Amino acid sequence: MGVIAIDGPAAAGKSSVARRVAAEIGWTHLSSGMLYRAVTWWLLKHGAGADPGQMELHLNLGPGGLELTVDGVRPGPELSSPEVVAAVAETATSPAVRDLVGRHLREAGRKFNLVCDGRDIGTTVFPDAVLKVFLTADPRERARRRLIQADTLGGGASPVERDQALRAQAAELEARDRRDSLRAISPLTRAEDAVEIDNSGLNLDESVAAVLEKIEDRFLGA
Ligand code: C5P
Repeated sequence: MGVIAIDGPAAAGKSSVARRVAAEIGWTHLSSGMLYRAVTWWLLKHGAGADPGQMELHLNLGPGGLELTVDGVRPGPELSSPEVVAAVAETATSPAVRDLVGRHLREAGRKFNLVCDGRDIGTTVFPDAVLKVFLTADPRERARRRLIQADTLGGGASPVERDQALRAQAAELEARDRRDSLRAISPLTRAEDAVEIDNSGLNLDESVAAVLEKIEDRFLGA
């Protein structure tokens, strides 16, 4: 089985690009951030002192790709709640949590050809990935995309309000990136052998095309 790793900072479009690339090449998409969010969600419910080893975490292949269940429940939008977003980078510093998530990712990697996105996929989880992409975008552009995704860049908002919302979102993303980059274990960093794609000026289709081009280069040796 093979892995294509797509790492990079928050809101660079990694999951959207990885999902589309996987569909194009007939591989399976897996967002590692979704697993860290799921563990965080579980810890918020069960108390920070709870042992994540007690959670029943499963990844099953469904019609929409790999589906996550936690204690038999499929979490949805709650994984993007402000509470989960505020706590996830801290949860992700725990060696026990990284070990747990890493084991699930590697198990999936033994069963499927994966396009896996995250922060440490090419550096730590799958250092032998057949292709490593480091996907970045300008912080303000990433903030804009995240606000559009959350549908909070309201059409009714004034330019000043929109600018304030953008600044606040950019600050939140930067704080999370800083935490992810500075942590001791598996920090967010570009693997030496990763190809970097800055998609600030690219839309989703163009970003997908840029990755597909790297895949062609890699496999056709262009
Ligand atoms: O990619 P996403 O924004 O869903 O990731 C949420 C958080 O999970 C990240 O900010 C990071 O703290 C953590 N994470 C990680 N390693 C990964 C993927 C995500 O530490 N491979």
